[in-house]
Formats: sequence, structure tokens, C-alpha cells
Amino acid sequence: MRIDIISVLPEMFTGLIDCSILKRAQDKKLVEIHVHNLRDYTTNRHRRVDDYPFGGEAGMVLQVEPIDNVISALKKQRNYDEVIYTSPDGEVFNQKIANVMSSYENIIILCGHYKGIDYRVREHLITREISIGDYVLTGGELAAAVMADAIVRLIPGAIGDEQSALSDSFQDNLLAPPVYTRPAEYKGWEVPEILLSGHQAKIDEWKLQQAMERTERLRPDLLDKEE
Ligand code: ADE
Repeated sequence: MRIDIISVLPEMFTGLIDCSILKRAQDKKLVEIHVHNLRDYTTNRHRRVDDYPFGGEAGMVLQVEPIDNVISALKKQRNYDEVIYTSPDGEVFNQKIANVMSSYENIIILCGHYKGIDYRVREHLITREISIGDYVLTGGELAAAVMADAIVRLIPGAIGDEQSALSDSFQDNLLAPPVYTRPAEYKGWEVPEILLSGHQAKIDEWKLQQAMERTERLRPDLLDKEE
């Protein structure tokens, strides 16, 4: 898979995409993540990529030309499954979308910007608008990093123990059961005995019960979702 991220703040991705599972997946050649600085695609000699909005609102708006330039340059090199724009107006990102996207070959993520982008970008260049939740961030960079992380960890081989991605919270609309590690007793706080029993079928049954109970208590809305 290849993820091309377009941003006016490419430095925000340092550290986010160079660590942990995202780094491992890139080292293993399961994914390539390329961050493009939008300013490299403007013809403006001051490298400006925004301008005042028509109709006189406050704030600057990203211009269509540099965005069209970078997206066209990328599309000349390969086909993209989606050209995503991160925006609080978008469809809310979830595990199901992450699952589908983890099977894609190539995606572009265009990071939104405080006052927005020229609407013609959204009308002509973007195939999907995604929000990571009902709150407003200062830009789409964190949203793009969140999406990249959630998607890449689902690519087979990205996580050492494949089973562990499958048993994540949300993967089957259930929250994950509790996990514990050594010591079995700490300050009198004990690990549930069943987990120490060695009886795998009973342990699995307990985990499912716990997952159901936690979901009913904490996120009953998940149980109403069809799938
Ligand atoms: N940009 C600003 N807020 C956002 C959000 N909630 N999701 C995605 N992109 C955003």
C-alpha cells in the first residue's frame, strides 16, 4: 500500500509516522508513506498557497492551483483508490472504514486547513471527506496521522501477532476484554483466576462474556449497529 499525504505542515508528521508500527510496516515494505509539502507545488514566488476568501470572511483559504498540481502529479504516476480530504464535515471515521482502506493499493490524504480550502477542490478533486470525530482540530494533519495509523496496523504482517489486530476493540463491534500480565497478584489486586487456569475454551468464553458486558455497559450503541 502507498499513502500520499499532502500538507502545509509536513514537519508535523515527523515522529508520528517514523515510530512504532508505522515505522515497522514501512521497514517491512508493507506500506510507503510519503508526505508532500503543498508549498512545493505553487508557482507563487513567495511559496504562498492561501489567499483571502471571496465574499469577505475572516481567515485564509487554501488555493485550488497548488492542490490540483500535487494531486495531478501523483495521479500521473499511479491510480488512487480514494482522494481523501480530512474535514470535520466528513463521514466519521471508524474501524469498518479502516478495514476497507487497509486493502487499498494507493490513497491520497489531503489535510484540511483552519479556514478551509477552495470549494472547487472538494467538488472536482476529492472522492471522500473524512472526519475523525465531532470536534474541530486546527488542521487535518492529526486526523491524517490517526487514519494512517488505524489503517496500516490492519495490513497483514504489520502487527507481529496477527491475532492481536483481530481481537481489537471494535473489530466485531465489541470492546476488547480486559488483559493482565505478571505478577498474578500485586498489593492484593488479583488477576481473574480463570486466566490462570490453562483451560483455553473456558478462557475464551470468559473473554467473550467480558467483551459483551463491557460493550453493553460502556458503548451500548455498538451493539445496535448492523454488520
Ligand atoms: N480538521 C479539523 N477538524 C477535523 C476533524 N474532526 N476530523 C478531520 N479533520 C479535521
